[in-house]
Amino acid sequence: MQVFVAAMIILVVGGTLLDMIHKKNVKYFFENVKKAKKSATRTISVGEKASIVFKSVASDVLTTSELDGKRRLAHLLGMYGTIVFWITSIIMIFCYSTPKFATPSILAILWHLGAIMTCIGGYWFWFFLRVDVVAEANPWYRVVRADLFILSLVVTSTLGLIWSYLQAINVSGWDIVFFILFSFSNLLLFGGIYWSKFAHMFYKPGAAIQKRLAEADGSRDNLPTPTDKPKKFGLGIKREAPRHY
Ligand code: HEM
Repeated sequence: MQVFVAAMIILVVGGTLLDMIHKKNVKYFFENVKKAKKSATRTISVGEKASIVFKSVASDVLTTSELDGKRRLAHLLGMYGTIVFWITSIIMIFCYSTPKFATPSILAILWHLGAIMTCIGGYWFWFFLRVDVVAEANPWYRVVRADLFILSLVVTSTLGLIWSYLQAINVSGWDIVFFILFSFSNLLLFGGIYWSKFAHMFYKPGAAIQKRLAEADGSRDNLPTPTDKPKKFGLGIKREAPRHY
């Protein structure tokens, strides 16, 4: 299991690097930062920069403030559930790997709680919140490559829970089958980074910090400043909720 975890970490690093090389998004990001600096109307001090980074982490990253309402709640459940699941898995695998040490039950409880939170947030997103389902009327069972991340994430947590249940009720043999399926779904989750949306968890914080910095130095990503006039969208906005992205 320890070797498997190390291999998964290598897959995360390798997959993210390949993804960055392929999409050239980091290159674009830094070129954009350079371009934005030229249109800055004021310079921001190191102290101000540090406070912007702190605010970004506290709001955009820790509370996913880019999202709203149900979408935000579902994301928070999935994000914190997954983080708790990963951290407790690593602690149990590396610190309590032999029967010599009794695993504190709080770790096992948190592991299950993390998996359940991921399932609630993930299935909520999959069945009810996905843009192509909620706004474009596609059926929930339509699967495209962009779904690789969400599906491998929820399937991994689900299989982990089933594996745990089967061990608890002592169904000999079946727990091994689900352990193999659980390992395979982990391989898909961590090995599929190049094709999935997994790496957004590394890109999004950087983009959020840059957005706030661009607002503070006046460059605003070359976008116009918001007007102070009242909002005017026309009467159409009252007819139905704006869900056609
Ligand atoms: C362990 C960390 C994280 C997990 C497990 C996670 C999980 C997810 C999942 C499953 C999706 C749906 C992807 C899809 O469209 O199929 C998603 C979307 C998204 N994530 Fe994360 N995420 C994490 C970290 C972050 C962070 C750190 C940020 C922001 C700083 C972020 C911002 C977003 C945004 C804006 C979306 C688009 C949501 C939407 O279309 O409704 N995520 N995330």
